[in-house]
Amino acid sequence: METYRISIKGENSLHGETYVSGGKNTSLAVIPAVILCDEPCTIENLPDIEDIHVLYRILCHLGAKVDYNLEKKRMVIDPSTVNSVTVPYSFSQQMRASYYLMGALFGRFGHAEVGYPGGCAIGSRPIDQHIKGFTILGAEFSEGNGMLCLKGERNGNAVNFDMATVGGTINVMLAACRAKGNTILFNAAREPHVVDVANFLNSMGAKIRGAGTDTIRIKGVNRLHGTSYSVIPDQIETGTLMIAAAATRGDVLIRGCIPTHMEALTAKLLEMGVYVNSVDDCIRVRLNKGHRAIRISTQEYPGFPTDLQQPMSALLTRANGNSEVTENIFDNRFKHLDEMRRMGAKVTISGRVAYIEGVPELRGAPVNACDLRGGAALVIAGLMAKGITQVYNPDFIHRGYERIEDKLRSLGADIRLEACD
Ligand code: EPU
Repeated sequence: METYRISIKGENSLHGETYVSGGKNTSLAVIPAVILCDEPCTIENLPDIEDIHVLYRILCHLGAKVDYNLEKKRMVIDPSTVNSVTVPYSFSQQMRASYYLMGALFGRFGHAEVGYPGGCAIGSRPIDQHIKGFTILGAEFSEGNGMLCLKGERNGNAVNFDMATVGGTINVMLAACRAKGNTILFNAAREPHVVDVANFLNSMGAKIRGAGTDTIRIKGVNRLHGTSYSVIPDQIETGTLMIAAAATRGDVLIRGCIPTHMEALTAKLLEMGVYVNSVDDCIRVRLNKGHRAIRISTQEYPGFPTDLQQPMSALLTRANGNSEVTENIFDNRFKHLDEMRRMGAKVTISGRVAYIEGVPELRGAPVNACDLRGGAALVIAGLMAKGITQVYNPDFIHRGYERIEDKLRSLGADIRLEACD
């Protein structure tokens, strides 16, 4: 089988306009959520990325009728024909978000058997809070042979999460929609996609209040109806494009985004001396001189997102001065910086903190993408570097960024996907 790499000739400033695709992490929850009803639903603005293609195959495997129009970025899903509650490991291990099939299948059928989730290796990623929530709602949980099994009644109850987990909050919210009685989720995650999934569920007739705060109240209903829904734009793609514009000292207008979701990143870019201006659903990012070193510390929303830590730390390798990056959410999310050392970056990593000494120049080199956002960080490094950078394992990047090479090329980057020698 032919393998590919992304090849970048660096040092071109990005200029012009681009647009943001639909949200990956929202879509990955909204699509399984359709299983909770038994009428056709239309989901629009889906990003054309590998994780969505995997989910499409899983839904077909479960017996749903799915009409996936890639060009129109739309899926029409009829879940009334779902005739299985089992998602084999061969499917589930292809991505992290397969865990949402647990909440969706358990919510609808009171029974789910789903293989362990896969996803980027960015540290230990337990799902104990998901299981805790399901068992509080009445599930009996068992595991064996790589499968996670939930069975039982769904009765509303109070769930107090030990930490604000995005996946756990959404998953338990899915199951609670079809539970008998009322559920309250305390210490819920507040990320924009939690709100978007709640809006989607409410458009199917669910009764959810408080999404976007740390307390979500759900009144269970017997039945959910079909709906038509368009997912929100991708917050992390927006941020990655903003950082790429700054990294190349360019001037880029990003259309179709939600600027209020970007406040933590915008504040940090402004602190670095980058010009950021938002009007309606557009953000313009511009920089024509050097940028200052800063400190960042990842937090749950509305704090600085862990998913932008990697692209941002790539940018900081070229800042004037010493930066400090603390990763509080995942315990192994600095692998891209190890790769960037080969390009001349000066970095010391101590546990969850990366100390970055800005350098005047990066040099192109062959590097390995080890995970999705780390891969995007290496692309940004390649855009900044002198000479040619080859990013191997681009599949990681394509799992979460739609047509990233095309979008960057249309802004003036010298970037292409090529077969490896
Ligand atoms: N955690 C637990 N137990 C749980 C759940 C989470 O200990 O049951 C811990 C995690 O280990 C982590 C923290 O809680 O330290 C937060 O994890 P969270 O559950 O919020 O993350 P996730 O659901 O695994 C989603 C996104 C990630 C994003 C995080 C944080 C999806 C499919 N994934 O992961 O996205 O980094 O939330 O915002 O929605 C990415 O897009 O590149 C990506 C990794």
